[in-house]
Amino acid sequence: EKGGYEHFMLKEIHEQPKAYRDTMRGRINAEGNQVILPELNLTKEQIKNIKNIQIVACGTAYNAGLVGRNLIETLVRIPVENDIASEYRYRSPIVSPETLVIVVSQSGETADTLAALREGHANGAHVLAVTNVVGSSIAREADSVLVTLAGPEIAVASTKAYTSQLIVFTLLALYLAEVRGTQTEAEVTAILAAMQSLPEQVEQILAQKDAIKEYAEQISKHEHLFFLGRGVDYAVAQEGSLKLKEISYIHSEAYAAGELKHGTLALIQEGVPVIALATQESVLEKTVSNIKEVKARGAVVMAITQEENVTDLLRSVDQVFVIPRTLPLLSAALSVVTLQLLAYYASLALGHDVDKPRNLAKSVTVE
Ligand code: M6R
Repeated sequence: EKGGYEHFMLKEIHEQPKAYRDTMRGRINAEGNQVILPELNLTKEQIKNIKNIQIVACGTAYNAGLVGRNLIETLVRIPVENDIASEYRYRSPIVSPETLVIVVSQSGETADTLAALREGHANGAHVLAVTNVVGSSIAREADSVLVTLAGPEIAVASTKAYTSQLIVFTLLALYLAEVRGTQTEAEVTAILAAMQSLPEQVEQILAQKDAIKEYAEQISKHEHLFFLGRGVDYAVAQEGSLKLKEISYIHSEAYAAGELKHGTLALIQEGVPVIALATQESVLEKTVSNIKEVKARGAVVMAITQEENVTDLLRSVDQVFVIPRTLPLLSAALSVVTLQLLAYYASLALGHDVDKPRNLAKSVTVE
């Protein structure tokens, strides 16, 4: 049932190219210049009237929402808030009938996320569910459902569900952009073309797994490490950190690179591993200067970047992993794969139960 893989997690990491294709299939027109999303179940008028969006979820699904926010705000210019579902209800969120509430849940059964959906409904909002399970409680109660077609996810650590959620958010953002006229056809076409290259590009990252394994074995000897990034790289850093903690039990923190010197830099000392996500050309210089700050305090830095920045980065870091060239907006769908493999191999090196980490359940149906 593990299809020849040692663990479900590794199998599911390898299923991502297929999950991307399946999640895109039928949702892009033949000309490649338009997104087709009838399941969204919103009229053009309703879409034009959306004043704000709240993306509510837990854990990895929350982290996918962080990337979703970046996509929607960049492409559609609608203000987006991210909320942790267990916090949402208790902070008296400002929700109106012109709010689109998006709940994200692989299982569709997470109690807090379901409660957030009901909170949205109680305030008259349209609730859109992004889920991997068609008949789930969340899918049944939502006003519309965009399914991720990742296939069953068995490992407790979510991998292909997260990346399929990124694909859905990209399609959704493009669709909203079309209706609201915030992107030109040429821009939409370029993004759709780049999306269609992602499955192939994920394969290229999977082919680097021996090098990632070697690096994972090194970090498995440490008790603490840090992930840094800016913008979408910060969102991916948060997911990478969660994944590592969840299955390797190594303590890590994800930091917005520029925030380090406001406290956390005090924790950086000789030999501490730092993983810097530096895929975004526009903030590369800034991230490099943050890398230099940690290097100067003795950190051992690994960076994840795109090909064209390697030479620059190699001057300031100890090791680089390269993701294939893509649009800055889409980099999360690639860089996270390196971090998934890293968490997997670190857990393996430490002899933990990769698919069933201690204290955790696949689906959290209690508050
Ligand atoms: O089924 P859901 O997407 O609602 O689950 C949410 C979280 O419990 C889940 O993503 C959790 O954080 C994962 N085990 C992380 O890998």
